[in-house]
Parts: sequence; structure tokens; C-alpha cells
Amino acid sequence: MTTADRGELKYEGKAKRVYATGVPGEYIVEFKDDATAFNAQKRGSWQGKGATNNAITAALYPKLEAAGIPTHFIGQLSATEQRVKAVSIVPVEIVVRNVAAGSFAKRLGLEEGTPLARPVIDYCYKSDALGDPLINTDTAVALGWASEEDLKRIRELTLKIRDFLVAFFERRGVRLIDFKLEFGKLPDGEIVLADEISPDTCRFWDLQTNEKMDKDRFRRDLGGVEDAYAEMLRRVTQPD
Ligand SMILES: Nc1ncnc2c1ncn2[C@@H]1O[C@H](COP(=O)(O)OP(=O)(O)OP(=O)(O)O)[C@@H](O)[C@H]1O
Ligand SMILES: [Mg+2]
Repeated sequence: MTTADRGELKYEGKAKRVYATGVPGEYIVEFKDDATAFNAQKRGSWQGKGATNNAITAALYPKLEAAGIPTHFIGQLSATEQRVKAVSIVPVEIVVRNVAAGSFAKRLGLEEGTPLARPVIDYCYKSDALGDPLINTDTAVALGWASEEDLKRIRELTLKIRDFLVAFFERRGVRLIDFKLEFGKLPDGEIVLADEISPDTCRFWDLQTNEKMDKDRFRRDLGGVEDAYAEMLRRVTQPD
């Protein structure tokens, strides 16, 4: 398969485009150079951002598969594209927190960096119009966004992913503060990890210096955003 196999544009989001392909059940995801924050009120872009996030995701998903996590990832297609299994996205974003930061710290009046005694999973309704509001699992079931069974499986996979990622990044001198996951359903009902794992969707702090190495550099105008993403790619692809 090549870029030429891109068919109909199925979905254009803030950071990626999803295309149909000639192969039933397969999509091509193209990572864009655009960055947005605060529900797209802040916009920017830099050259190489899409390629960096594509490469980071393409490095991580096979490692997660090897650790027993089913994912949508099939293979990298080009610098900015990857082949994935088409899924029906569960419209619930899964946010995992190891350390208080961002909206969690703000909501609860905690200082950023306060460690949590156990991981916290927050659930948000995937709705740009509403700004991805915080929900709980009862709400997701009551409104038909996911079944009890799906949510149980999502939670189980999420905790496995969390354990894998925390250890993986720690070996590379990075503290995984929090991260967002999206899951999807295959036609046979299997739940798989979809979307991406990148500095757009995680908070990464350098283990030694606590320096931020993720999208907060863009959100908060800290500068050095390109270098931080490039450094994260370097660390992710460094051998174990
Ligand atoms: N395997 C897949 N099959 C179908 N859709 C997918 C798959 N993986 C990711 N997606 C969806 O593709 C879109 C990716 O685009 P992008 O990340 O740019 O979205 P976004 O702007 O963050 O918006 P959204 O709030 O919809 O996620 C997301 O809606 C995501 O849920
Ligand atoms: Mg997204």
C-alpha cells in the first residue's frame, strides 16, 4: 500500500486526517503539522510535527502489541502516514493520571506535580462542541456510548498500557505525568487501542530536571516545542 491508495477522506480532525483505502477494514491516518489547544481556540503549526508524532506512535504501538495490548496499528506507510484497522471509535476519551497536572490540578486546587497514590482514570465525552466534558462510566452506559462490558475491558487494557508506558518512559529518563487514550471496536466487537500516543496526548517531564517535553510547551508558550518533540522521538526510539 502507498499514499496513492488513499481513498475518500473519512474524517479530518485537528491533528490528523483519516482516509479510506482500497482494502476493506483498513484506513490510512495522516498526521498533520497543525497543533491546537484549549479546544482549538489556540492554533499553531510547525514543520515536522506530523512526522514526529507519526514516528512516535509507530514506535510505541508494536511494543504495546508485544506486551499483549491489541491496537489498530498495522504499519507505518510514510513519514506522516500509517495504516490502521478501521474501527468504530468509542466516544469516550480515557485520561490516565499518575501525577496531578492540567485540568485535574486546577479542578481540585492541587499544585501541579503532586504525586497520586494510585493512578486515576478520568472519562470524558468525546465532543468538540462541548469541549470534551468530564463524565463517569454510568453516564457512558446510560447514554449508550459504551456497554458495561466494553468499559470493563477498556479499564483493564488502560491499566496494562499505563504500567507498560510508565516503565518504558522511566527507562528513557521521562516521567509520564498523564495521558489520553482512545479505544475503538472492530466489526467482531473486539476493543482495540486506536488513535495516537504522542507529545500531543501525553504529559512528559524530564526525570532529572522536571522540564516539560510535550504540548504544554505550545499551550503555555514555553518555547522550544519543536526541540522537545524531537527529543521525545529520540528517546522513544533509543534501544532498550
Ligand atoms: N483506527 C481508527 N478508525 C477510525 N477512526 C479513528 C481511528 N483512529 C483514530 N480515529 C479518529 O480519527 C480522528 C483523528 O483526528 P484528530 O486526532 O485530528 O482528531 P481531533 O481533532 O483530536 O478530534 P477528536 O476530538 O474527534 O479526536 C479522531 O476523531 C479519532 O478518534
Ligand atoms: Mg486527536
